Amino acid sequence: SLRKAIIAGNWKMNKTRPEAKELLEAIKPLVANAEGKIEVIACVPFTNLETAINTTAGSNVKVGAENVHFEKSGAFTGEISADMLTELGVEYVVIGHSERRQYFGETDETVNKRTLAALEAGLKPIVCVGELKWERQCNITEEVIARQIKLDLWDVTAEQVKNVVIAYEPVWAIGTGLTATPDQAQEVCAFIRAQLAKKYDQATADAVTIQYGGSMNAGNAAELLAQPDIDGGLIGGASLKAADFNTIVQAAV
Ligand code: G3H
Repeated sequence: SLRKAIIAGNWKMNKTRPEAKELLEAIKPLVANAEGKIEVIACVPFTNLETAINTTAGSNVKVGAENVHFEKSGAFTGEISADMLTELGVEYVVIGHSERRQYFGETDETVNKRTLAALEAGLKPIVCVGELKWERQCNITEEVIARQIKLDLWDVTAEQVKNVVIAYEPVWAIGTGLTATPDQAQEVCAFIRAQLAKKYDQATADAVTIQYGGSMNAGNAAELLAQPDIDGGLIGGASLKAADFNTIVQAAV
């Protein structure tokens, strides 16, 4: 393939530091064989980042954060800047997850600002897009995705977008046990790549890793990952169990 497969766990608001250490110690030896073949990432709560960096040191497991603020510093109580993350050794950051959009008022405009701030600081953003159930029912999935790609990647250059990962996460599939079918997921991931080709060019679009997320698990990962435009997964629930997460990683190796 032209691009790197990336399996990323998104732990969401789970795991204390001792629990984080235990889970990563369990994951490390299981996924060691993926080294040099695919990228394996654990995106963890801010409070677990230092523990995760220390625990994964010398292994092929990379660490990501679950959000980043767009300003460099200042009076933004409760926020974390991109420089604070890179200084810790964090490489990736999830941006615009549907839970951030739904529960915490994030918009395409702030998703775009976060993406630009992350890139400027040298972080690799995992930018999440996806339609609501209602939007799919109304047959406007492609309009929704096209708008998100256009707005979320506004002002992101062709050079920069090579460091961006897009996660296609249909909101109706997140945490619901209701996975998109491989055909449904492939269709939208191919559409995303076509939007990237239109915005940049085909070679650039072909170099961008596009993940699927939404109830991906040990049982369904292989057929999703076999699709030509699905280059990995963003895994919620199943990333909290070492054996399940590893089964997904092995499906991508
Ligand atoms: O970021 C991960 C997605 O929200 C998927 O979560 O695998 O628990 O459905 P899930």
